[in-house]
Amino acid sequence: MGKALLCPGILSKKAIDCPVGAGRYHRVPIGFQARPVYVAECEGEKEIPVAAPAIPLDFDPKRAIDLNSKAFHANKYAWYRWMLEEAPVCTGKVSVVKVKLVSRYDDCKMVLSDPRFMRNRARARGKGSGSMPFPVPKAVKALAQSMILEDDPEHRRLRNLVNKAFTPRAVGALSDRVEDLSQELVDELEDRSGPIDLLNDYARPVPSLIISEMMGIAPDEVSRFQKMLKVFSDGLQGLSMLRTVLWDLRQVRRFIEELVERKRSSPGQDILSNLILAEEEGDRLSPDELLAMVFLLIIGGFETTMHLITNSVRTLVEHPDELERLLDEPKLWDSAVEELVRHSGPIHGTKLQYTAEDVTLHGETLARGTAVMPMLAAANRDPRVFEEPDAFDITRSPNHHLGFGFGAHFCLGRQLALMETRVALKNLFETCPGLALATDPRSLELAPMVGWHRHKALPVRLH
Ligand code: HEM
Repeated sequence: MGKALLCPGILSKKAIDCPVGAGRYHRVPIGFQARPVYVAECEGEKEIPVAAPAIPLDFDPKRAIDLNSKAFHANKYAWYRWMLEEAPVCTGKVSVVKVKLVSRYDDCKMVLSDPRFMRNRARARGKGSGSMPFPVPKAVKALAQSMILEDDPEHRRLRNLVNKAFTPRAVGALSDRVEDLSQELVDELEDRSGPIDLLNDYARPVPSLIISEMMGIAPDEVSRFQKMLKVFSDGLQGLSMLRTVLWDLRQVRRFIEELVERKRSSPGQDILSNLILAEEEGDRLSPDELLAMVFLLIIGGFETTMHLITNSVRTLVEHPDELERLLDEPKLWDSAVEELVRHSGPIHGTKLQYTAEDVTLHGETLARGTAVMPMLAAANRDPRVFEEPDAFDITRSPNHHLGFGFGAHFCLGRQLALMETRVALKNLFETCPGLALATDPRSLELAPMVGWHRHKALPVRLH
């Protein structure tokens, strides 16, 4: 009898031929990798060592999963598969805070659209309207009180006003700029010898320059503004979070206030000018609301797109057949980018929803005030909705993924994000079809940030 073999990905119930040599084996489930993992005894000559599965079969669904841990981030898709199949409501831990995680597609949609779930924590718990769970300095409070943390009717009022500013003309005007900017960057990078960090050298500047233009930031201020934005990507973890809250955010606030002042006195065609002037039935954004909105747009529009571009480059390089097909049939870019958002999107969980009354889900009662996080990335791999959910298929149709959220808070910048990503990827791969990872993919690290799927860096060679 040979040794136990690790045979991931085999879902057949029957004894089957050994994939590595001779013999037949029987499956004995021992846990979950990207799929359930089985060991088998086999008479074959070849032997492969049995690796520990990412999730032991006997993992107690009542135990909290540490969402900040490297172990979780290194095996996210295994955890999602486990949640989808074994624990549709389970507990996650964010630092010391416990949250309920829901993973199935229909459950995520329900949590994001059923009025029994609310964004405003205090209101959901029947305790006034403040949405901050901890004290925040006054100077930065306004930045954090955005519509993404509000419910209707407050949310609807703010969203209507910002919708007015996102005119098709204002967004459409950006598409030529994205073309020019990304092509200029690619041309510059192409001349460099040796590997580049795709994240910092390409995926970061494209959306940050576009956001700067959307906000009408003068060209000579862009680099100062970009440094501030970098603080958010690098600085929102651990101790540096404190520095960000006490110092960096004040700087950002001052910068935005100055910008708003200038735009008030001389408005342009940009979205910030539109926002200042946006009016609905005599209603306007107050100065603090305007500040929060600008901040939300900056964070929402920049970090997300930058990581979608980075994740997408990795996915395309790892699926050379799909990439080749895209380069041969450029009309497939639109559906490819939707599939990239589903398969490799940057947002894995939404902001927390709170139960406004007791809600029972899959036999578990969530008491009023319970924090619930819909795991969008798990829902996007739910086999009840997506055929071969782990496969990357640029022609997938239908593809009603949840990568841009669902319900009242559905992404406001979806069109802009799809356009930016399509243009940035198309220009990059058409100019550099030989682009390849410059490192062993196993050495690529993900940032352990809850709700996100973001690489720390992506070293590539362009030729
Ligand atoms: C790849 C790019 C993007 C992805 C994957 C993405 C994803 C999302 C998701 C999942 C949500 C819902 C969050 C929740 O329910 O808590 C959301 C909301 C939002 N997104 Fe995006 N986003 C992207 C780009 C953008 C861009 C470019 C902008 C604008 C410039 C933007 C602006 C917003 C805003 C303002 C909201 C909040 C909407 C509300 O509360 O009503 N996003 N986005």
